[in-house]
Amino acid sequence: MSTNQLDKKSQAWSALFSEPMSELVKRYTASVFFDKRLWAADIQGSLAHADMLQAQGLISADDLAAIQKGMAQIRAEIEAGTFEWKLDLEDVHLNIEARLTQLVGDAGKRLHTGRSRNDQVATDVRLWLRGEIDEIGVLLTELQKALVDVAEQNADVILPGFTHLQVAQPVAFGHHLLAYVEMFARDAERMIDLRKRVNRLPLGSAALAGTSYPLDRERVARTLGFEAVCQNSLDGVSDRDFAIEFTAAASLLMVHVSRLSEELILWMSQSFGFIDLADRFCTGSSIMPQKKNPDVPELARGKTGRVVGHLMGLITLMKGQPLAYNKDNQEDKEPLFDTVDTLKDTLRIFAEMAAGITVKPEAMERAAKKGYATATDLADYLVKKGLPFRDAHEVVAHAVKDAIAAGVDLSELPLDKLKAYNPAIEQDVYEVLSLRGSLNARNILGGTAPEQVRAQVARHRARLA
Ligand code: ARG
Repeated sequence: MSTNQLDKKSQAWSALFSEPMSELVKRYTASVFFDKRLWAADIQGSLAHADMLQAQGLISADDLAAIQKGMAQIRAEIEAGTFEWKLDLEDVHLNIEARLTQLVGDAGKRLHTGRSRNDQVATDVRLWLRGEIDEIGVLLTELQKALVDVAEQNADVILPGFTHLQVAQPVAFGHHLLAYVEMFARDAERMIDLRKRVNRLPLGSAALAGTSYPLDRERVARTLGFEAVCQNSLDGVSDRDFAIEFTAAASLLMVHVSRLSEELILWMSQSFGFIDLADRFCTGSSIMPQKKNPDVPELARGKTGRVVGHLMGLITLMKGQPLAYNKDNQEDKEPLFDTVDTLKDTLRIFAEMAAGITVKPEAMERAAKKGYATATDLADYLVKKGLPFRDAHEVVAHAVKDAIAAGVDLSELPLDKLKAYNPAIEQDVYEVLSLRGSLNARNILGGTAPEQVRAQVARHRARLA
């Protein structure tokens, strides 16, 4: 065996092969140009494996020291950008192992004892994803905090609440924003939950059947901070459900982002004019000098399709795969990487953008006055005076019909006109018909009254601290 057999891959895989791969096949099967991103996890996993091999008496203390020294140099080379990634060496694992052997000789060749790239790659992806999930958790907290701040400043600002995009009832703008905080809080919960299933150790599964070496898998798990060891070697090397689950949670998160994006876009359009986004999140037009376009939320809305696409890609990749490892699984990386990148950029930019929203309370209130948003309040008023709800509903429908014909709001009808619909209506009806009165009346847990909004702001702040 040559000093560095792995380096000879450009010729043939091993003595078994009578010809080398064609250039096209080499390019088709190689993953190094995207999976080199896993290098830190690969080194971390190898060091934990080597430490355990030594503790189990499978390699010497000198070998371990050589491996540690070699890996330190490789790390430095990669960080400095001087490491030479070779397509001939297919993937991140073989590239690093070959360099190690080049640097430290036989000790490097002993590293792969009791290990296969199959359990190695599954371990690397899990380690890497775990770190990314933690970063995403921090970014989700930042976004929620930014939204809670804007919600607090707008606890009293009246916005037309819509159903079917038709004016329904007035809501506090702060209440509206806190709906998104709830969504993002559940997204964060999902990440925390699925992290438990990401955080399990496949290493020790070897190629598929486990290994005949007396490895201490629990020790490796402890070293790497995994909370459990995969209990079936076939499953450990082959399933990518943890990646699918992550991408599913990421898709839901992006769906929430897309809903917020859609609203920001609508609110910023001249027909609504409810908000303005800071210039740094918008672009102009090359032909229409008056334009300021909400490109960032539009792009985020578009990128939601991209992330959902990755979910479809990954789940289809897994479908029908027989046990155990199949090369199909190499295709898990690019969708996963892109999902993480898209998510992190989007969360960062949305936290900043939320903090820079200019709210236009007069425009919101004007719009809320347009659609008879307090009609339900009039019906409720009549119910409190003793009318059955269905009758009250009918009475108010007549009043709204007449008000529309007269081109006025319900609150602009004189008392004698209102009394004609029902004699129980008194002067106090005007408080009920006001937007503010309607808002304040919904002082129930989960409701839109400013007092409730402030209570929710306090709850979120305590939760996010
Ligand atoms: N680059 C491969 C992957 O990403 C590593 C595992 C290769 N295993 C194998 N038996 N060819 O899945």
